Amino acid sequence: MINVIKTYMPDKDKYQKYVDKLFSNSWITNNGELVQELEKRLATHLGVKNIILVANGTVALEIAYRALEIRDYVITTPFSFVATTSSLATNGLKPIFADIDKESLNIDPVKIEQAITKNTQAIVPVHVFGNGCEVQEIEKIATKNGLKVIYDAAHAFDITFNDQSILNYGDISVLSFHATKLFHTIEGGALIINDDDLVQKARYLINFGIENEELIPELGTNAKMNEFEAAMGLCMLDEMDLIYKKREDIFNYYKRELEGLVDFQKWNENCSNNYGYFPILLKNEEQTLKVQHALNKKDIFPRRYFYPSLDTLSYIEPKQFCPISRDISKRVLCLPIYPTLEQKDQRLIINTIKESL
Ligand SMILES: Cc1ncc(COP(=O)(O)O)c(C=O)c1O
Repeated sequence: MINVIKTYMPDKDKYQKYVDKLFSNSWITNNGELVQELEKRLATHLGVKNIILVANGTVALEIAYRALEIRDYVITTPFSFVATTSSLATNGLKPIFADIDKESLNIDPVKIEQAITKNTQAIVPVHVFGNGCEVQEIEKIATKNGLKVIYDAAHAFDITFNDQSILNYGDISVLSFHATKLFHTIEGGALIINDDDLVQKARYLINFGIENEELIPELGTNAKMNEFEAAMGLCMLDEMDLIYKKREDIFNYYKRELEGLVDFQKWNENCSNNYGYFPILLKNEEQTLKVQHALNKKDIFPRRYFYPSLDTLSYIEPKQFCPISRDISKRVLCLPIYPTLEQKDQRLIINTIKESL
């Protein structure tokens, strides 16, 4: 069976050494040594000032909204994983969708501007599949209208914009280190916070709002990353060069073979690529399902990602309609891409797609 993703497992002996250490010192959570070490190494690796590791990407989004004290209406994209929108709704915020650009698949800055009202407090764009948003445009709109920007950068590990980390844009960027991501910590996530004054507050928020044994200044939650997760991250970091090389080869092979037969996401030319996903756009839903079924018959499972468009979620009020996102979500398929995908399996995927088209 070939799935859209296979979790990367780093060197087992190296991980075992970390586990041995944890068994001997029994410090396995609560801002342990490995979490601290991973925060330092990631800040350098990514080129960011402040990074806080947390339990997952969803809770990182929630902490970001709370740290910035966002209320009321938030403009976001309908073309994302459900957590982008559900994290708003579960925190009592109202998602207002701005439709996407049909080529970049990212939120369209023109639509953001059109959606702003006096109740808007923030914008939550997503760097979809690692493709950087138009961050300078979004910054201008936010400054002009006094809005906060929280980037859902779950897919944007190591992405640069004009050779600087894209995570430095916005007030806060949020990463996911879920096992399906190209860099992972089993479960995990991070907040990249550009305002130094906010960092301490976010640190209280992830630890029940506690400052010290006597002071609880914030209404917090439990969003801590544990040491076994941090150990996984440390092992993964050592193997990133190899991971990118393998992913890049797979990505380029798909691109060469499928060019002209299907459409690709248009990449932001100021951004680097991390080869995290390989989405293809088919002509219509019928063709998409045909290709999906042909692959499924051979035990290959691409993913309709993202489907459905989030403006169709039953629990979101007011009801909204984003035609571009709805159209794209019906005809997108993410093809299998992971470092251990064998070339013969990739050939089979490509041939099956070609036959079914
Ligand atoms: C775009 C996007 N946002 C948010 C999340 C949530 O991250 P997590 O699964 O770590 O909670 C994900 C991931 O799965 C995602 O793809």
